[in-house]
Amino acid sequence: MINKKIEIKFKEYSDLKELAEQDASLIKLADENLINSYSPYSQFKVSSLILLEDNIKVLGTNQENAAYPSGLCAERVAVFSAKSTYPNKKIEKVIIVTEKGNEFPFSPCGSCRQVLMEYELKQKKTIEVILKSGNSKIWVFKSIKDLLPFAFEAEDILKKE
Ligand code: THU
Repeated sequence: MINKKIEIKFKEYSDLKELAEQDASLIKLADENLINSYSPYSQFKVSSLILLEDNIKVLGTNQENAAYPSGLCAERVAVFSAKSTYPNKKIEKVIIVTEKGNEFPFSPCGSCRQVLMEYELKQKKTIEVILKSGNSKIWVFKSIKDLLPFAFEAEDILKKE
């Protein structure tokens, strides 16, 4: 038996002013978009901004439904929209913000991590993830892999052919 350990590195900022100007303005855009969240059941507003190559920005918010599982998280609304409109543009960053927050930001759900992971692997370029919840600290991950270690990868299936 061997004991193994993995390490995840990420950056924490206490204030938007500590970030690069571009990142601070992307977070501001995502925050302003929280108003478009349709979340009458959870009252939990989430907004996501996808930054594609060529400075293309695509926004999304969580969209809920009386038949609960029919709704969708903000990140997937945003990334599916981005890849439906610009299928060949690589994703550079994903900003995820929530209206409510504590000291540390909320993390994206497992399904959203899995979806983002697929695009990161496909484009062979890491996707930076920036998280902020209300006035929480801001967390920056260099790659979606840092949020989803031991991910199930499409190659695992494709290789069997
Ligand atoms: N939600 C997101 O939009 N993203 C996540 O990563 C987690 C949860 C939404 C789904 C639902 O509308 C609300 O937050 C409460 O779960």
